[in-house]
Amino acid sequence: MLSTVGKTRVLLTILCLTATGLFYKSKWSLQPLFSLWLQELHVCNCQQCLTEGEHEFKTVIDESPKPFLSTQNPTSEDDFNWWKKLQREQRPLSFFNETVKKLFTIFPPIPEVEAQSPDRCRTCAVVGNSGNLRRSHYGPLIDDHNIVIRMNYGPTKGFESDVGAKTTHHVMYPESATYLDNNTHLVFFPFKINDLLWLLNNFTPQDNVQNPKMRGNKDLVMILNPTFMKYTHEMWLGKKGRYPSTGFMTVLLSFQLCDEVSVFGFGADTDGNWSHYFEMLRNKKLRTGPHAGMQEYEVIQKLHQKQIIRFFKGP
Ligand SMILES: *[C@@H]1O[C@H](CO)[C@@H](O)[C@H](O)[C@H]1NC(C)=O
Ligand SMILES: *[C@@H]1O[C@H](CO)[C@@H](O)[C@H](O)[C@H]1NC(C)=O
Ligand SMILES: *[C@@H]1O[C@H](CO)[C@@H](O)[C@H](O)[C@H]1NC(C)=O
Repeated sequence: MLSTVGKTRVLLTILCLTATGLFYKSKWSLQPLFSLWLQELHVCNCQQCLTEGEHEFKTVIDESPKPFLSTQNPTSEDDFNWWKKLQREQRPLSFFNETVKKLFTIFPPIPEVEAQSPDRCRTCAVVGNSGNLRRSHYGPLIDDHNIVIRMNYGPTKGFESDVGAKTTHHVMYPESATYLDNNTHLVFFPFKINDLLWLLNNFTPQDNVQNPKMRGNKDLVMILNPTFMKYTHEMWLGKKGRYPSTGFMTVLLSFQLCDEVSVFGFGADTDGNWSHYFEMLRNKKLRTGPHAGMQEYEVIQKLHQKQIIRFFKGP
């Protein structure tokens, strides 16, 4: 603790320094100082970097935990205890820990994420599977982004003019797995320990034949940390629904990868029908299962209104 005299002395020193600074500045051009200050403020090289000039969502985005599991970013006991209830995991944390350890003997122990920098503008397209992509002609616009994230079955072949052809990241879990090429990051969302074991099996060389549908480059595998799922559930959805949907988590994940985010293929089509662009669903009623579908949709709309994302709703 500083005494009153000490405090006054510090204050006086600051005042003196400021005065000297002002005098100094008035003699010389302000330009270099000003541009230095600007550089410091501008965290990326886009026109607007994600939450720049925005307050409502900035804190919650800045408070995000690191999204991917890594040897340096494990899952805490608390987060595991929340996660294990999602699909009634019976096995203990010690088994989870062992499994994660094995994963990192095969997959990169620290997944590759391009860091934010004042020198670059990282753009993301998050592409959902909604029928509102049909006849949208969004293909070239989607492919124009540095990172294109697709999810679950989401095919491109035969749908290029509406959904694009590029996939840098593909989000999936075992039940929604699809073929990946050698240049696409598999972004794996685990909902139970069996999912992690499935991933291990599929990339263990002698088992490659087990699931020919699910190939891919093991060097590009990244695994979502259950911690991030819990953060989404608590901080973004106010604990509504049992756990967040894959699509919603993917939008929030993109905030950790990009400075500029465009969202495509979410929600119903213009007739109010819910379907996929690649198939007709027989049951057209909105069924979101364990997820708080409407809540999630409202957050996405709000993010658009606040200009944090650009939300493309189809033709
Ligand atoms: C599992 O790993 C977490 C994170 O490193 C650690 O906090 C916890 O003590 C471990 N628990 C067991 C039972 O191995
Ligand atoms: C896939 O990419 C890796 C590098 O990440 C390379 O070592 C491997 O040879 C590639 N495989 C094929 C089939 O192109
Ligand atoms: C949308 O739903 C309506 C009523 O169920 C149906 O008549 C129409 O064909 C549907 N449109 C599409 C594109 O599936």
